[in-house]
Amino acid sequence: MDIVSEIMSLKKARDAVILAHNYQLPEVQDIADFVGDSLGLSIQAAGTNAKVIVFCGVHFMAETAKVLSPGKTVLLPDMDSGCPMADMVTAENVLALREQYPDATVLCYVNTSAEVKAVCDLCCTSANAESMVRDIMNRGGRVIFVPDRHLAGYAAEATGCDIIPWKGFCPTHVKILPEHVTAARGLHPDAVVLAHPECTSEVRHLADKVLSTEAMCSYATEMKAQEFIVATEIGILHRMRADNPAKRFHPASELAVCPNMKRNTLEKVLHALQSMRHEITLERETMHGARQCIRRMLEYRA
Ligand code: 13P
Ligand code: SF4
Repeated sequence: MDIVSEIMSLKKARDAVILAHNYQLPEVQDIADFVGDSLGLSIQAAGTNAKVIVFCGVHFMAETAKVLSPGKTVLLPDMDSGCPMADMVTAENVLALREQYPDATVLCYVNTSAEVKAVCDLCCTSANAESMVRDIMNRGGRVIFVPDRHLAGYAAEATGCDIIPWKGFCPTHVKILPEHVTAARGLHPDAVVLAHPECTSEVRHLADKVLSTEAMCSYATEMKAQEFIVATEIGILHRMRADNPAKRFHPASELAVCPNMKRNTLEKVLHALQSMRHEITLERETMHGARQCIRRMLEYRA
């Protein structure tokens, strides 16, 4: 039996569902039941009836799935697939910020550990950061945003909110430089430029649209434009090309590769299902605090 057939038959036997982020390896995206962005994956994890979730993404995403589905077994095929940006803020950092700004609402990016979420008020993804910041601002509150200073900058510009940002950043997105975008535009003058809000402000300002990964996929499908330059992790190009075979997609920079996202291979997915490893476990208290933080985002969206 080939590896894909082996995975499919074990998936059935284990009553498992495979969720994959838009940045996963092409062959991993192709075997997933659902491919999407952080928000879409959280919603799928909360709603699935399967007993086991094999999460092909990074550690905080699998933790989010566990928090939303505590009764299910959540497996991360490679336990070392972390998010360096999520590791740039700790629960202690958040508690210190709370002391410094006692009246502010602490909004965390979903790219944070469960321990960090447990001490924040609510979380957001790149898809809903802008509207959640606007909502908090309209209710008269100040916003502390952790950990991504670029997403904080984007939300502040979009809403006019005076956000107190943490100093984190995504090492993959900051590799995309303004000169890469300008050079790509020179080569493809008719292309629409899409950028992720984790990009630097210089790159965002050169883009035609700033969108989350899922919004990039739908935008490319819905728009009449035939050609796109994509300023985010290059794994997304696989899905964009598969969804729109007649359109052309170019990476803004070939350097935008998240090594952590590429750790989950087909072999590791198979191994995860064979040996039921590596299981995500969380302390009860952390789980409870993080659930409130994530639930507030999901309720907000509903
Ligand atoms: P999305 O929420 O847009 O999928 O982004 C997640 C991420 O890790 C981006 O680097
Ligand atoms: Fe984290 Fe950046 Fe990788 Fe996304 S692309 S998982 S933010 S390091």
